[in-house]
Amino acid sequence: MRIHVLDHPLVAHKLTTLRDERTDSPTFRRLTDELVTLLAYEATRDVRTEQVEITTPVAVTAGVKLSYPRPLVVPILRAGLGMLDGMTRLLPTAEVGFLGMVRNEETLEASTYATRMPEDLSGRQVYVLDPMLATGGTLVAAIRLLIERGATDVTAICLLAAPEGVAVLEKELAGMPVTVVTAAVDDHLNEHGYIVPGLGDAGDRLYGTAGD
Ligand code: URA
Repeated sequence: MRIHVLDHPLVAHKLTTLRDERTDSPTFRRLTDELVTLLAYEATRDVRTEQVEITTPVAVTAGVKLSYPRPLVVPILRAGLGMLDGMTRLLPTAEVGFLGMVRNEETLEASTYATRMPEDLSGRQVYVLDPMLATGGTLVAAIRLLIERGATDVTAICLLAAPEGVAVLEKELAGMPVTVVTAAVDDHLNEHGYIVPGLGDAGDRLYGTAGD
């Protein structure tokens, strides 16, 4: 597994405002959107392309376009939805699948409650959107499912990661074609499974606490 932590002043600036407890939901959503686009730029560095020949108003020249099958973007509901627009802005022709996963707040175990994506992902490059790589349980389950369906490689885009979650992914997904792109790896996870210093509950900060 590869991990890429973006080292860029704009990323650090936006992340600092996201972390701030005084940042309201509309600002949090807008900054998440902007930050994801920056992360997505790095995450798509190896997106597959093919050579094409085109004619400019002046001459014939060689270029590239995204290959088929198109990449698949999979936000993990609920909080991953807040990352979808920022991602598809950069990859407008990508297909979008959905994975509903919830973690039990006592056991911290992840379980799947909804899956909407192709059964056969052979040859597909997949980008998974999950803002918080905390215990790693959700991402391990999601990435295993995608690779079992045939995905060639999977890139997880996370706003923040905890060292404990990164270690779980490294152990559980060893040898699999997986990359994690994140804005920062924080200090630790607390006893409730929250990233410290983190930014709190990403779903609540994006969407409020409806349903609690
Ligand atoms: N999920 C969140 O939303 N925040 C955390 O800190 C950990 C998991």
